Amino acid sequence: MISAWQGQRVRLRAVEPADWSAFHAFDQDSDAVRHGWRLEPPRSVARTKQWATELAEKDPDLDEVRLVVAVGESDEPVGMINTHGVDRMHGTFVYGISIGTPHHRKGYASEAIVLLLRYMFFERRFQKAEAWVYSSNEPSLALHRRLGFVEEGRRRRSRYAAGRYDDEILFGMLNEEFVERHQ
Ligand SMILES: CC(C)(COP(=O)(O)OP(=O)(O)OC[C@H]1O[C@@H](n2cnc3c(N)ncnc32)[C@H](O)[C@@H]1OP(=O)(O)O)[C@@H](O)C(=O)NCCC(=O)NCCS
Repeated sequence: MISAWQGQRVRLRAVEPADWSAFHAFDQDSDAVRHGWRLEPPRSVARTKQWATELAEKDPDLDEVRLVVAVGESDEPVGMINTHGVDRMHGTFVYGISIGTPHHRKGYASEAIVLLLRYMFFERRFQKAEAWVYSSNEPSLALHRRLGFVEEGRRRRSRYAAGRYDDEILFGMLNEEFVERHQ
C-alpha cells in the first residue's frame, strides 16, 4: 500500500487538536518565527489549543491546504506546510513551510515540499509553484536554491522586522522543472 503523503522521512497529515503543544514550543524561537512570517505577542495555551482544534475541525479545501509535517511511528509534528495565493486560472500557487528549530537540517522541509508539489502538480494540475523568502533568511534561500527553484524577482525593502528592513525574494518552479529534478 502506497500513500502519496508518505515520504522516506516525513508524512504530511491533517492538523490534530493534540498538535498544539508542539507548535506552542516552536513559537518560542523568535528568529524562526520572524523568518516564517512575523513576531506576534505570546499566545496563551488556551488560544493555541483553540487554534489547533479549529484547524482540525475545518472543512478541508482541495487546493488551499495546511498540513502537518510529521515523523516516526508516533506521527510527531515537526512543522507545517501550507498553500495560499491559489490562482486556478493561471495555474499558480504560493506555499509556505516552517520546521521547528530542534528538527532543522534533517531533510524534513525538502521532502515535505516535494510531497506537496507533487500533489499540486499532478493531482490538481497546477503548473507553477512560488515561494517568497525574506532576504535575511539564509536557511530558506539555501533550501530553495538547493531544490532547484529559480530566483525570479525581488521586492525591495518590503518588510520590517527585528529593527531592520528586508527584501522579499520570489522563487518559482515550473511543473516541468519539478519533473526533471524530483520525479
Ligand atoms: C528554512 C527551513 C524550512 C528549512 O527546513 P529544514 O528541514 O531544516 O531544511 P532541510 O533539512 O530540508 O534542508 C535542505 C537544504 O537546505 C539548505 N539549508 C537548510 N537550512 C540551512 C541553514 N541553516 N544554513 C545553510 N543551508 C541550509 C541546505 O542546503 C540543506 O541541505 P543539507 O542539510 O544537506 O546541507 C527551516 O529552517 C525553517 O522552518 N525556518 C523557520 C521558518 C522559515 O524560514 N520558513 C521558510 C519561509 S520561506
